[in-house]
Amino acid sequence: MRLNSPQINLITRACMKASRSLIRDFGEIENLQVSTKGPGDFVSSADKRTEKILIDELQKAHPDYGIVSEEAGIINKSNKVNRWIIDPIDGTMNFLNGIPQFAISIGYEENNEIKCGVIFNPIMNEMFCAEKGNGAYLNNSRIRVSNKKNFGDALIVTGGPKGISKIKDKIFSEYVNVSKNVSNVRKLGSAALDMAYVACGRFDGYWQRELNYWDVAAGIIIIKEAGGFVDFFEEDTKYPLKKNVLATNSNIHKELGDLINKKDIE
Ligand code: IPD
Ligand code: CA
Ligand code: CA
Repeated sequence: MRLNSPQINLITRACMKASRSLIRDFGEIENLQVSTKGPGDFVSSADKRTEKILIDELQKAHPDYGIVSEEAGIINKSNKVNRWIIDPIDGTMNFLNGIPQFAISIGYEENNEIKCGVIFNPIMNEMFCAEKGNGAYLNNSRIRVSNKKNFGDALIVTGGPKGISKIKDKIFSEYVNVSKNVSNVRKLGSAALDMAYVACGRFDGYWQRELNYWDVAAGIIIIKEAGGFVDFFEEDTKYPLKKNVLATNSNIHKELGDLINKKDIE
């Protein structure tokens, strides 16, 4: 990896450390799947274990930095200048079912702007990272978004709706609408990896509603540094951590955006 700012070094070190216990926990899932108790409680403790290792490592270096983390919530709320945005396991449902499509996702923000980020899938040993102005990488190789220009040929990824969503019909009609206009649509179950996959050209675009900031914080800088576009649409100022995301290779941004904003989708 050619990125070596202090923040990136710190995040990657924390990810490597946390991933050792995460890999062990994932190995246990198979046994738990067939047990009568099931893996549910175990997964939430794996989530918390991973998060604790990450937070401990990051705090060792910067005890005063703000943290927004999915399980632990907000730490050092008054520090709005330097913040870590953490999702200890993005793709919990996959993890729970023994599907190796999940990742640790950490973004670093300065004055409300994401400066660097890491998304690490420990099972595939794929570490996506980026730093403002210094490009995006997958392990040691520089990555770029795809060069596809024809929207009709695009492979798009999306996610949701969750079971509790109140806008399921709207999300499904968006899905139908997009799938009628592109080559195909996938759903892989980890927003962070969906964004990382746009950054390295595996997908041409991604959109999803009802996300949280920690799902996408690291992905924002990784896609931008890989040459793509990221937008948030229909922002709700009352809930700044809630996000609807549109991210593409930039060539197809307008087409995908126009479809999602279409008035007849209600
Ligand atoms: C979820 C994943 C999933 C997305 C959900 C997220 P979690 O995060 O990113 O792909 O569809 O909206 O909540 O719960 O696994 O950290
Ligand atoms: Ca998540
Ligand atoms: Ca999570």
